[in-house]
Amino acid sequence: MLIAGNWKMFRGPDPAELAGLSAVVCPPFTRLRDCVDVGLTTYAQNVHWEPEGAYTGEISAPMLLELGVVGTLVGHSERRQYFGETDETVAKRVRAALDAGLRVIACIGETQEQREADETEDVLRRQLSVLAPHPDLLLAYEPVWAIGTGLTATPAIAEDAHRIVKSVLDRPVLYGGSAKPENVEELFGEPDVDGALVGGASLVVDTFAAICALAAAAAR
Ligand code: PGA
Repeated sequence: MLIAGNWKMFRGPDPAELAGLSAVVCPPFTRLRDCVDVGLTTYAQNVHWEPEGAYTGEISAPMLLELGVVGTLVGHSERRQYFGETDETVAKRVRAALDAGLRVIACIGETQEQREADETEDVLRRQLSVLAPHPDLLLAYEPVWAIGTGLTATPAIAEDAHRIVKSVLDRPVLYGGSAKPENVEELFGEPDVDGALVGGASLVVDTFAAICALAAAAAR
């Protein structure tokens, strides 16, 4: 089981209070060094595909590695929804990050509209079609309708989606979308749920620690 905390554009908790937790943290860029310094397994929330260049507002894999960052999220639905991220740019970011030696959690998932139109499987297949298996690539299934909404996919919905994902790309799959201590235990009981990508609940030390403890208890 892998637990990753996505702090998004929140300052987040004091990294020192998380020291010792067996989890990945994805803080905003300005807090990366603080997290690295206390020994946390630290991932960025995004990365550019070029090592350097005239790309205002972006950051490159070598720059992250220089800081001691060991991985990155790519293709989070908020990047896709608000910042024009496409399957093609996701593919470029993932490839460059892996080539440079970063681990990657690539995020995929359908919107409410797509689920209602019965397009979930097609959407997942399309989003995965640009990715290739790699030992340092993990996936996060994050149904957009469950992110920050308090709605969580039922264990059966998550398991169904994870099974589809693994049939296309056989890599571990984290579940994301309103994951919290009250619902992860059941999710971790599903055979194809390999951990969780936690947003809101990762901003509170006790809550995040509780999720990590439940993951350790469910470890297989
Ligand atoms: P949430 O976010 O746990 O706040 O729903 C998850 C994510 O977006 O990674």
